[in-house]
Amino acid sequence: MGKNISELSGRKGLEENLFEQIGRITKESDADRSERLEKLADEFLIGKANVYGAASFYDFTREENKGKEIYVCNGSACLTAGTQNALQATIEAKCGKDKTGEMVCLGRCHENNAFHYNNRNYSGSDIQHLDAIMSGTYQTKEKYHVGATGNPMLTLPYGDITNHYKIWQTALNTDKETLLHEIRESNVRGRGGAGFPMAFKLESCKNTPGDTKFIVCNADEGDPGAFSDRYLLEERPHSVLMGMMIAGYIMGASWGVLYIRGEYPEAVEICETEIQKLHAAGYIGKNIMGSGFDFEFKVIKAQGAYICGEETALLSSIEGQRPEVRVRPPYPTQHGLFNKPTVVNNVETLACLPWIIDNGGKAFAAIGRGKSTGTKLISLDGHFNRPGLYEADMGTPLRTVIDELGQGFRVPVKAMHIGGPLGGLVPVSKIDELTLDFESFNQGGFLLGHASVVCIPEHFPLAKYIEHLFEFTAHESCGKCFPCRLGSTRGKEMFQKALNENYKIDRTLLNDLLDTLETGSLCALGGGLPLPVKNALQYFEEELSPYLKS
Ligand SMILES: Cc1cc2nc3c(=O)[nH]c(=O)nc-3n(C[C@H](O)[C@H](O)[C@H](O)COP(=O)(O)O)c2cc1C
Ligand code: SF4
Repeated sequence: MGKNISELSGRKGLEENLFEQIGRITKESDADRSERLEKLADEFLIGKANVYGAASFYDFTREENKGKEIYVCNGSACLTAGTQNALQATIEAKCGKDKTGEMVCLGRCHENNAFHYNNRNYSGSDIQHLDAIMSGTYQTKEKYHVGATGNPMLTLPYGDITNHYKIWQTALNTDKETLLHEIRESNVRGRGGAGFPMAFKLESCKNTPGDTKFIVCNADEGDPGAFSDRYLLEERPHSVLMGMMIAGYIMGASWGVLYIRGEYPEAVEICETEIQKLHAAGYIGKNIMGSGFDFEFKVIKAQGAYICGEETALLSSIEGQRPEVRVRPPYPTQHGLFNKPTVVNNVETLACLPWIIDNGGKAFAAIGRGKSTGTKLISLDGHFNRPGLYEADMGTPLRTVIDELGQGFRVPVKAMHIGGPLGGLVPVSKIDELTLDFESFNQGGFLLGHASVVCIPEHFPLAKYIEHLFEFTAHESCGKCFPCRLGSTRGKEMFQKALNENYKIDRTLLNDLLDTLETGSLCALGGGLPLPVKNALQYFEEELSPYLKS
């Protein structure tokens, strides 16, 4: 059924995109919402249930969130910073409870106090200007430090775009196989979490026959604590866009689709503006610079669902289907967007390509450690003396990241949640054993993931943090498989009861739950949640013991 809907959605393609139309209808209409959604289903020749299924899934399109005007961030970094209760009270006092909603991580983890109003994000001391914000006379004062150690490439400024796009001209004059060879030699691996070699996917898609192919940029950076993709989209958009163009050229894709999370409105606007500049300069469009290659961009603004970061859910989302994770194989390189050959890559992975083509794959591979080549962006949250966005060579000691780049912790910290909600919980005692690369984190029993760092201060109860992780997963689960759909809720209930009632968690039951999640989940949302919980049980047994049956 899903495959048929992909075809039907694909008939109107990206120009009259079903997902965008669902978003528009749910925003604009009130009384005639159902009628318009049903009409849309008829137009696309799909069942009404499919359109309702999609509309009722997302935070921004579902009926119960209608009427919300201002949203408080409920991401992990704002939670452990302890800023959100007071923020929420201030906002509710001004705007009313019924108009105040929640959003999952606005990427303002460096200064917390984050909220969203009228398509703009605010944080830090912005809340003191709520009246001015609401009257449209205030601009956010967001500021974060950007720094690097080693051999920065992604944080370096690239100057004016005419000069920068000489790399694109060179690429268009180079044989595709030669370009692919450079990428293979660089051994650049996916920065979206799994660390999968990029060249492998590009090659597979290049070799798959198809008139229409897509390169999709996964800019759904939903991991609370991460704002590295946001940085690239807002501050280095031409590294990302050119990376998509180069990848598209190699595999023969006529479309580049940027799927950007709705919680990053500024990134959406910046990318749209910069794409217009590319058109004006003749770097995209038909027969680009006489090369015979055609390439267009489409920016899709997402509607608030963490699971859309998982690549197959993301593709279903663009198609206007309910974003449930798909069983693989077939892989997107064979049956991707609208059933066409598709490569999905993370923002940071794509942003590496211009540097690789400009400097050669060998130069990229010479940076880093072992199979983790190049550099990695790291987001440090507000618990550091110098929170911000940093770039370091893969293999850099974690100690250097914390003490030199972040300049140490601002408050006593007991653990760091690194790599998003499904990443490991690294106790501070392990800092000196880890280096910033895939292998070191895996060997240590953790996960590099997006390399976002959310600190857990000494005073913050770990049981509460685990409850938050289960709650997050329960909210974000796509519901396709029962270990995740039910297990996340059972875990949340266990910890809620242990925190609020005279109830102790049966350790055998908890272990069973974690094992079931780990082994029985279809994707890494349910499958990855046990990692931080197990880390917590392993390293903080004493703190957690009052909540557990001995
Ligand atoms: C629950 C879940 C959430 C994910 N979120 C993201 C995300 O926000 N951004 C991203 O690039 N990859 C995310 N991924 C990984 C993608 O499925 C996919 O591996 C990635 O986009 C591939 O790009 P890469 O090879 O460049 O890393 C997520 C995976 C899972 C299971
Ligand atoms: S693990 Fe959770 S999010 Fe992933 S497919 Fe199963 S229900 Fe969906």
